[in-house]
Amino acid sequence: MDKPHQITADIEVLPSFFPLPGAGFLAINAFVIKAKEPVLVDTGMGIESEAFMQALEKVIDPRDLRWVWLTHDDADHTGSIRKILEAAPKARLAANALAVLRMSTSWPVPMHRVHWLNPGDSIQVGDRTLTAVRPPLFDNPTTIGIYDDKSEIFFSADCFGGIIPAPVQNVDDIADDELTQGVMNWACADSPWIHMVGQDEFGRALDRIRQFAPKMILSAHLPTTRRNPEQFLKLFAALPAFPPFIPPGQTTLEQLLSEKQERS
Ligand SMILES: [Fe+2]
Ligand SMILES: [Fe+2]
Repeated sequence: MDKPHQITADIEVLPSFFPLPGAGFLAINAFVIKAKEPVLVDTGMGIESEAFMQALEKVIDPRDLRWVWLTHDDADHTGSIRKILEAAPKARLAANALAVLRMSTSWPVPMHRVHWLNPGDSIQVGDRTLTAVRPPLFDNPTTIGIYDDKSEIFFSADCFGGIIPAPVQNVDDIADDELTQGVMNWACADSPWIHMVGQDEFGRALDRIRQFAPKMILSAHLPTTRRNPEQFLKLFAALPAFPPFIPPGQTTLEQLLSEKQERS
């Protein structure tokens, strides 16, 4: 885990970076929205659960959390969910019904603490309304991003992430073309179905985000950026025609393993 840091007066990120051998790094972010009813958005990777809990405690006393919003039930978002629900007895779990039911196949989700949400549904958290929004790209059918009407920030789950050359707190120092390549590669890698979608149809999905004109996009998989969201939306318009991403194969794995052996 990296050190948590503030994005706005009442939003903090709990950042981590996952190495992608031979490719770079993927940010794995969870967020704390210090609303009147404080909200944790996602719960990091299980492999560093202890560090995640320590990072969270630096930002907020878990007992003060009133909501845990799970954008979807992928392992890089649910790593500490059980520990959090124990440490935050007053928090309710906001998630899509399918995410909750899928998780129930591996651990007993306390259903009386759950709040089911579909895209378009909202919860009131005291000083703001959080609305579930399906991002234009997703790798899991249960995905619900968040539009926060107070900060006017869109929490986009896996969408608008990017593979970056090195862990950084803020990607604004990365050159535009390098960031573009990393963002487009991640989009194609994480949502390969994009190549089955027509450009017009996908354009309409992007327009749905434009309609609520977020001031900032916070992705689970990109360090903070002050770049204008429109820059990302414009970039994405070309995605259906972008070359598919082919993950590395066995030859690469063998190469990486022998390099590792040589070093040790
Ligand atoms: Fe995912
Ligand atoms: Fe993810």
